[in-house]
Amino acid sequence: MAAAAQPHAPTPATGRPAPAEPRDPWTDQPYAHALRTGSGPLFLRRLSPSDAAQGPGWRGDLLPLDVERWCAVPDAADSSVLRRCTGPVLDAGCGPGRLVAALTAQGVPALGIDVSPTAVARTRRLGGRAVRRSVFDRLPQEGRWGTVLLMDGNIGIGGDPIGLLDRLRSLVAPGGRLLAEAAPHDVDERLTARVEDARGRHGRPFPWARLGTNALLRAADATGWLPTGRWAVDGRPFVALHRPGPGHHDQHATLAALAERPGRR
Ligand SMILES: C[S@@+](CC[C@H](N)C(=O)[O-])C[C@H]1O[C@@H](n2cnc3c(N)ncnc32)[C@H](O)[C@@H]1O
Repeated sequence: MAAAAQPHAPTPATGRPAPAEPRDPWTDQPYAHALRTGSGPLFLRRLSPSDAAQGPGWRGDLLPLDVERWCAVPDAADSSVLRRCTGPVLDAGCGPGRLVAALTAQGVPALGIDVSPTAVARTRRLGGRAVRRSVFDRLPQEGRWGTVLLMDGNIGIGGDPIGLLDRLRSLVAPGGRLLAEAAPHDVDERLTARVEDARGRHGRPFPWARLGTNALLRAADATGWLPTGRWAVDGRPFVALHRPGPGHHDQHATLAALAERPGRR
């Protein structure tokens, strides 16, 4: 099992989570190479369940990864998320860092975390702050982030959305928010996958998940997040979730209402 995608076990000596190890799957080629060149093609290959019916988005067992977009400047869908950010912002699995760099350029305090050293280096080159850390490691300003971002399929990190959403809830300040991107289809998948290029070169297997909006809202509900908005731009769906603050009275939109109603751009 791949360490980056799992909560890191506390080390016996310190009781603290161990830092991301070089063997973490997203640190391998071909992901690092794709980030360096800013281009794919790059895929997630589903290894199991191998007999699963092909869900939407898959080409056989391959799911295309949008490396070119990740390495470009923020597009209209990204901007719809950036507009909703309240600092300080933590981008969990920031990849090559377009969002951290854009927020920084706007004067919004932002930090990217990623297990990939190439992702961290690229984010820094763009002028953003980033550290090489798993989202399950000890992180700066835990419980004090105004916004946490979970973009581009990152709800899949760890292959356990409930565990991930729970962890993110502990990072956000009371009253703070999580802005998360959902899969563009109504899916709720758990899988073992690896990153692979067009020539079949690949990294290590790791657990992953894909959740459409409804599955994401259900997982959010199970972990104490309040859904306060949903919208889609260019076919990319997003949800806004709030961590209830002290003295919270439930004035927010209900889960049932949001589950069926896409909102403004
Ligand atoms: C689907 S890509 C998303 C890329 C990114 N959001 C972007 O804008 O380019 C997943 C990213 O999450 C990172 N990642 C995977 N597991 C992680 C973990 N446990 N903690 C932090 N980052 C992780 C990977 O290295 C990769 O950069």
